[in-house]
Amino acid sequence: MTDDTKDFAPSRRQFLSGAAAAGAGAVAGTAASAAGPDPLITEKQPWAQELGAGVDETPYGLPIKYESDVVRRNVEWLTADPISSINFTPIHALDGTITPQGCAFERHHSGAIELRKEDYRLMINGLVDKPLIFTYDDLERFPRENHVYFCECAANTGMEWAGAQLNGAQFTHGMVHNMEYTGVTLRTLLEEAGLDTAGDLKDKWVYVEGADASSNGRSIPMEKALDDCLVAFKANGEALRMEHGYPVRLVVPGWEGNMWVKWLRRIEVTDHAVESREETSKYTDTLEDGTSRKWTWAMDAKSVITSPSPQMPIKHGKGPLVITGLAWTGRGAITRVDVSKDGGKTWETARLAKPGEKMALTRFYLDTTWDGEEMLLQSRAMDDTGYVQPTKAQLREVRGENSIYHNNCIQTWWVNKDGEAENVEVS
Ligand code: MTE
Ligand code: CO
Repeated sequence: MTDDTKDFAPSRRQFLSGAAAAGAGAVAGTAASAAGPDPLITEKQPWAQELGAGVDETPYGLPIKYESDVVRRNVEWLTADPISSINFTPIHALDGTITPQGCAFERHHSGAIELRKEDYRLMINGLVDKPLIFTYDDLERFPRENHVYFCECAANTGMEWAGAQLNGAQFTHGMVHNMEYTGVTLRTLLEEAGLDTAGDLKDKWVYVEGADASSNGRSIPMEKALDDCLVAFKANGEALRMEHGYPVRLVVPGWEGNMWVKWLRRIEVTDHAVESREETSKYTDTLEDGTSRKWTWAMDAKSVITSPSPQMPIKHGKGPLVITGLAWTGRGAITRVDVSKDGGKTWETARLAKPGEKMALTRFYLDTTWDGEEMLLQSRAMDDTGYVQPTKAQLREVRGENSIYHNNCIQTWWVNKDGEAENVEVS
């Protein structure tokens, strides 16, 4: 032990060296007495000698410039142009579960539109007694609810059907976001339009459309429409961002993102599914036997380790390591997540930051010690229906080689001795 931490009072030095001795290998910090003088501790820094920014400089705050790489990213070769395209949430760099709107993935079929509240109209027509048109102000006069839900594009992880493709949790799993929505239940508005919700609603549907050029029309069975769908106008406490459907979007908890119609303009009550483009030639799964499964609405349980991961290498060498990630299920709540360091041979149960909530992201942690050896990191989610997240091989048995959508298989990151991680597939 050197004695160049002369600035410290003896009692403080004793405490620090005591801690280092007792916890060798278990403490992530550096014992101050062993580290030599650290100018960040011993010298007065510029930020303590100058004045900071005034409260009039940032009427609406953005992340500090040092976090400028925590942004949505797209993959240019994925789509022909950026108007009908997708970008990805930087899930590797986020923690907790709420996705800030500013970095929550976007998926548009004909670009994000600017629609003023004043120009907003929502029409309910079809098999209702009283077809209605609502203004934005009208919507604000109905009783509101708040719920946190994840939204996952059916194409999330879609590239990985062809084998390990993209190097980063952001790109393999970043078509997901999780926000607290404020809105009016779809049930309330349908009742306002005279739908007899106590009557015979078997075989009834709603067909929902957006105001953008693509319209993104989707049919939703009435049971779901009346169960938990929200006509939402706020996310994470503030107005929806343009790219997420300002001023109003539909929230369809647990079901594929394509049904979450943005810039919601029309809801038609019908006695059949419209079978639009978005629910026939797209968002449909071709199976092993060559037939196509007609509907795949609920997103099955899924999880991914967000750190370490290809964009989040281990930088600190062996010793204490926090392995963390996200889990979610469109069928209820996450009950357990296991983590494997050896490609699925052995598993340890991770700690859930909070008990899983219905149709919302769940954060998990495995507080562990890294021995500096290679790892094949995997996570495996379980939900309250008893469902266990499958391996890629198990999924391929049912789905064959021809799939694009609904890939919820276990992801593997190979971590080398330098702590760098890579997307790999284990059989
Ligand atoms: N709604 C409209 N009107 N137009 C669209 O292009 N894209 C859908 C859905 N709703 C879309 C839409 C798809 S495929 C997804 S995954 C989600 O919106 C994405 O929502 P986000 O852009 O808020 O992440
Ligand atoms: Co989508």
